[in-house]
Amino acid sequence: MGLTELLKKRNRKLLFTTPSHGQKFFIFSKFRQFYKYDISETDAYNPQEALKKAQKYAAKIYGTNYTYFLTNGSTSGVIAAVLACTVPDDKVLIWDNAHICHSNAVKLAGCEPVFYSVDEDKNWGIPFAVTADVIEERLKKDKIKAVVITSPTYEGNIADVGKIKSVCETYGAYLIADEAHGAIYPFSEKLPESAVKIADFTVQSLHKTAGGLNPTALLHSCCKIDPENALKMINTTSPSYPLLASVEKNIRYLNSSKCRKKIDELVENINLLKKECGLSNFGGSDPLKILVKVPDLKGHELSQILYEKYNIEDEKTNEVSTMLLCGIGTDLKKTERLKRALKKILSKHKCEV
Ligand SMILES: Cc1ncc(COP(=O)(O)O)c(C=O)c1O
Repeated sequence: MGLTELLKKRNRKLLFTTPSHGQKFFIFSKFRQFYKYDISETDAYNPQEALKKAQKYAAKIYGTNYTYFLTNGSTSGVIAAVLACTVPDDKVLIWDNAHICHSNAVKLAGCEPVFYSVDEDKNWGIPFAVTADVIEERLKKDKIKAVVITSPTYEGNIADVGKIKSVCETYGAYLIADEAHGAIYPFSEKLPESAVKIADFTVQSLHKTAGGLNPTALLHSCCKIDPENALKMINTTSPSYPLLASVEKNIRYLNSSKCRKKIDELVENINLLKKECGLSNFGGSDPLKILVKVPDLKGHELSQILYEKYNIEDEKTNEVSTMLLCGIGTDLKKTERLKRALKKILSKHKCEV
């Protein structure tokens, strides 16, 4: 029985267990259904067994050795991956501008951080993706146990993960890919290649682009190491089964032909938007991140116009450009509205050739 089916079938025994809201007593009525499905891991229907099965099935879909459902974001996945493949005092190579969970992971593992830097793409005010050469240069100098890369970057630059993996192999280092922003990649040929089957560990936030609830995420392992024990060190012993069941459903949906078609259409809509608004106004290599630049406007000015005049909120802005994030929920209506706004803004401002 899958997790979702199990939650629907709930134990009808008289429960003197946690959670003691009794699946009926809800404090916030909007969450009524959520309470109904909120059960304990010791529930007689054995949700732990159902979870194991759901994760095994997910590993099959992704083609990994192990896939774990996370209910504390990619943050917990990165920490668990570092804990899983290092021992205290090992050196771990991380980006000096990475998400805070990378340095926290190294700290929690009792390891020593070694940093690499990545140049900034001044044209767009965003970091480039890390290259295999940058990684190799550091690996030559130090005995490094694990390398953590971010691909895609927040703004959508993609690293050559295959090349970086070969370099890591040459120097005997594990590769951990933070693919928090690329959870949707494995489900469309029109998107960049996912790191899932390349890196030793890959971490993905389902909640960022793949339709998941905050803070659902995945930790995959393609190497011999099973990160289960590492996860046990940082996870609660009372996981949220409604969230875990949502992950199970989420993955099945992502893998469906309906969803794959929807993602392909989304990419086409975005490509069309870019073409109609002038391709030179757009940067980055992840189609789901619309990185836009209007030549005589600063990024913050563009962001403000979008917000105040067109009721459109972006994800991130810098001096030069503004980034709008798309995902499964970005339908044609949304991209059309953004296109109309951008066309109007661009027609009033000088276009870069
Ligand atoms: C590149 C990157 N890695 C990791 C994380 C952490 O992800 P989560 O919020 O799922 O814990 C983020 C969050 O913004 C991120 O941008």
